[in-house]
Amino acid sequence: MPYDHLFSPLSAPGLELPHRIALAPLTRNRAVGTVPAEINAEYYGQRATAAITISEGSSPAGVGHGYLDIAGVHTDEQQAGWKHVADRVHAEGGRLWVQLMHCGRVAHPRFTDGVTPVAPSSVLAQGEVWTPEGQTPFVVPRAFETDELEGLKQDYVQAAERIVAAGGDGIELHAANGYLLHQFLGTNTNTRTDGYGTDAAGRVRFVVEVAKATAEAIGAEKVGIRISPEHPFNDMQDEGWEETYDLLLRELAPIGLAYLHVLEPAPDEALPKTRFARERWTGTLIGNRGFGEAYDYARADELIADGTLDLIAVGRDFLANPDLPERLKQGAELNTPDEDTFYSRGPEGYTDYPTLAQSQA
Ligand SMILES: Cc1cc2nc3c(=O)[nH]c(=O)nc-3n(C[C@H](O)[C@H](O)[C@H](O)COP(=O)(O)O)c2cc1C
Repeated sequence: MPYDHLFSPLSAPGLELPHRIALAPLTRNRAVGTVPAEINAEYYGQRATAAITISEGSSPAGVGHGYLDIAGVHTDEQQAGWKHVADRVHAEGGRLWVQLMHCGRVAHPRFTDGVTPVAPSSVLAQGEVWTPEGQTPFVVPRAFETDELEGLKQDYVQAAERIVAAGGDGIELHAANGYLLHQFLGTNTNTRTDGYGTDAAGRVRFVVEVAKATAEAIGAEKVGIRISPEHPFNDMQDEGWEETYDLLLRELAPIGLAYLHVLEPAPDEALPKTRFARERWTGTLIGNRGFGEAYDYARADELIADGTLDLIAVGRDFLANPDLPERLKQGAELNTPDEDTFYSRGPEGYTDYPTLAQSQA
């Protein structure tokens, strides 16, 4: 069999997995009105042969929405929608982990019922966001007051509890790609002087608190975290990233999280961020090429064989190939992802990519 290591099972705390190929979190803007529905259950059910079916970034708070029709995890209706999705993924034999993505400063009043976005500091992100009315600049966020941070932490805790109540298998804290938790870690986005900024110890503090609080609430083996050191997406800067992420990983390690998920922002053969993480993380490590070239699966197989990674998360190839593991196992051709429908509406480019069997029929 090709890719022997990609297709070896994994047994780790919180993770009993048949192979090593996870679905990467993918925003698809198809949760109409922020509530997952049948079309979303169908999409995730189609991708339930992933080792872990990680969901689209989903907001733990109303003020955390930064895109049209991304799912939320803060109302009873959304929770019921996630139950529908979890039930479908389980019926197909899979495991659903929901990514909690609070957009922070890159949220937009168009998607927050007019509420001004909140962030670690009042620093405008350069760039624009798509709205139904056209491209619109980001807005200047309001900085959280220190006494609001407990409430923000509770937003994550309650969202995690909602996912477990909905039958979800776990949550992934999105601390990557310039969203709220990354904004606490970043040097350009965090100018706080209240103990939650200033230096590496201050910048990692809130992220560690959220990881601890969610782990205490639902069990550490149900919580994963995604990071992207030095990823410039969403106008981020991580100056002196080694110091920040060294401390972050040392403080996260004792919590016993299910996994660490690392995006390698400018992937090259050396994989410096992935290796940096591996040296500091004895638990399960998921790698992803972070908007770079799609995975070379033979290379991924080697990285699992030599212990650099435990799993890979695959975005675009999985988006276009609902049965990606089966196709890789058979050495079959892959469907090509259609970028025009990544963030569009309805089933086209969402639930209508054929499986191998359907293509052959
Ligand atoms: C359409 C699309 C939506 C994405 N949405 C998210 C998201 O919600 N959360 C996240 O952490 N990353 C998101 N990403 C990044 C992917 O998880 C992944 O890091 C990226 O696609 C690179 O992996 P790939 O080369 O396998 O596609 C998105 C990427 C794409 C293409």
